[in-house]
Amino acid sequence: MCGIVGILGTTPVASLIVDGLKRLEYRGYDSAGVATLERGRLDRRRAEGKLRNLEARLREQPLDGLIGIGHTRWATHGRPSERNAHPHATDKLAVVHNGIIENFRELRESLQADGLRFESETDTEVVAQYVTREMRRTNDPVAAVAASLAQFRGAFALAFLFDGEEDLMIGARRGAPLAVGWGEGEMYLGSDALALAPFTDTITYLEDGDWVVLRHGGAEFRDQNNAVVQRPKQKTSAGAFLVDKGAHRHFMAKEIHEQPEVVGRTLAHYIDMATGRVRLPFEVPFDWSDLDRLTVSACGTAYIAGLVAKYWFERFARLPVEIDVASEFRYREAPLPRKGLALFISQSGETADTLAGLRYAKENGQKILSVVNVPTSSIARESDVVAPTLAGPEIGVASTKAFTCQLTVLACLAVAAGLARGTLSESEGLRLVTELIAVPGLMAETLKHEHEVEQVARDLSKVSDVLYLGRGSSFPMALEGALKLKEISYIHAEAYAAGELKHGPIALIDETMPVIVIAPRDALYEKTVSNMQEVAARGGRIVLISDAHAAAESGLDGLENVVMPPMGADFAPIVYAVPIQLLAYWAAVALGKDVDQPRNLAKSVTVE
Ligand code: AGP
Repeated sequence: MCGIVGILGTTPVASLIVDGLKRLEYRGYDSAGVATLERGRLDRRRAEGKLRNLEARLREQPLDGLIGIGHTRWATHGRPSERNAHPHATDKLAVVHNGIIENFRELRESLQADGLRFESETDTEVVAQYVTREMRRTNDPVAAVAASLAQFRGAFALAFLFDGEEDLMIGARRGAPLAVGWGEGEMYLGSDALALAPFTDTITYLEDGDWVVLRHGGAEFRDQNNAVVQRPKQKTSAGAFLVDKGAHRHFMAKEIHEQPEVVGRTLAHYIDMATGRVRLPFEVPFDWSDLDRLTVSACGTAYIAGLVAKYWFERFARLPVEIDVASEFRYREAPLPRKGLALFISQSGETADTLAGLRYAKENGQKILSVVNVPTSSIARESDVVAPTLAGPEIGVASTKAFTCQLTVLACLAVAAGLARGTLSESEGLRLVTELIAVPGLMAETLKHEHEVEQVARDLSKVSDVLYLGRGSSFPMALEGALKLKEISYIHAEAYAAGELKHGPIALIDETMPVIVIAPRDALYEKTVSNMQEVAARGGRIVLISDAHAAAESGLDGLENVVMPPMGADFAPIVYAVPIQLLAYWAAVALGKDVDQPRNLAKSVTVE
């Protein structure tokens, strides 16, 4: 996923564009660039790597233009390099792009057949050359863009500048978000409200297929048929969220420590604290008791949240759950029940695979419920009902507070479903809500022991392979632990259902590979202890995440114990996410990794 910022300004814009890009750098950071119009003439600066490299380039060779576009890149076509960095330009225009032009090869061949030469390996340069060729035919930038967009297949957000046109910027979106910002005599384009927050709190989101002609006096929106359309302005609160690290060294650390607060805020949005009952903040356009199956799909950590929720929906609501990663679900042609409910989980609300899965489910007659952290996102806008997580902007690429807020919302939904389906009594519902309300305090208590987890993590950082084990709803938590460790420390880690160990993975056990066992005191705890004994009998090194007495009671010597406060078992996964996150965080810190922006990753993958 890449970040786009454009400013049709009245003062020099290069440094302002970089400020906006900084709020988008979590989307991708392989390279960056800015193009501006100086006295009508296009000029650009680009640099490989982080934005700080572009800032250095701009200090060496400043750009003074009052109109500009900028881009921070997560490479899809063409390796990270200055040559492949956006903006891409011709003598007529400059363009920045987020997404993929799927038919870029055939378009490039057609352009090359016309004698045009390419300097980069990117699909974006095909856009620049194609629109330029149209301009040579129409000599009109707006007509050229209108004629070109229909030729592009794939998902994209685009922003164009035109040589000699000091009162014109054009934006277009299909499948990747783009917003217009309204200023005082200035106009803006941005990938999301966060990028525009330094400039304005009045924005308009382009609908899928829209494009927009910006001039200093305002914006003209057109739909995919090039018909002029009206799009509403809205006030955004993106600026209200302080996007800085505070006293923390990394955004990820800050966001781990924000969890008691944001989980509490999310709970308060779904639970009537006066009565101790779940009170969903929206009307459900379906009848929980009508459902005979719930279809769930998401990616990465959001998918893992769905895996945990499967245990809750099936246990509390006796509702069978079918769950799949969205990159498989979108193509599997899964038969779906009539009048079924499909649930999609996404922090960004822009993940391409999840959005495609949502569209498949919608085309097949499902009601769509989404759990998202960005209520104005594409997934939210295409859902029948949205269950927001109130995590606030999550900047660290590794998802932490969004994950625990997703679990919190999913827990509330499962309890609401159980009460609606009559599979939970009022008293059971009250008991479960009481357990949920205790979660933020338990997370805060767990965070007080961060130093102990840090010590274990520093040892972990010295190994090359780690195995995570869990049973029941702790098995998805083992998957999350392995994902977190992999994605920020680059240590190889795998997760297994603890009961599966003897079916093969136990061959891996020796003294060199730590085994992280996630085992809250639930009905399966004793079974998990047996699995630990199997590991210990083969010289395996065990780190047990459980309550204070677990290690002593296990009868096993040499156990390392990450001590958790005692708690009810039902929603332990939400609290047990904290040590899992801290283990990965401190292992990555010990290894000197780029915790907030791990290599090869992006915060939201808006391309396939
Ligand atoms: C989480 O730590 C990962 N960075 C990644 O798996 C993420 O959860 C996944 O890409 C889904 O993103 P989304 O929640 O924005 O849809």
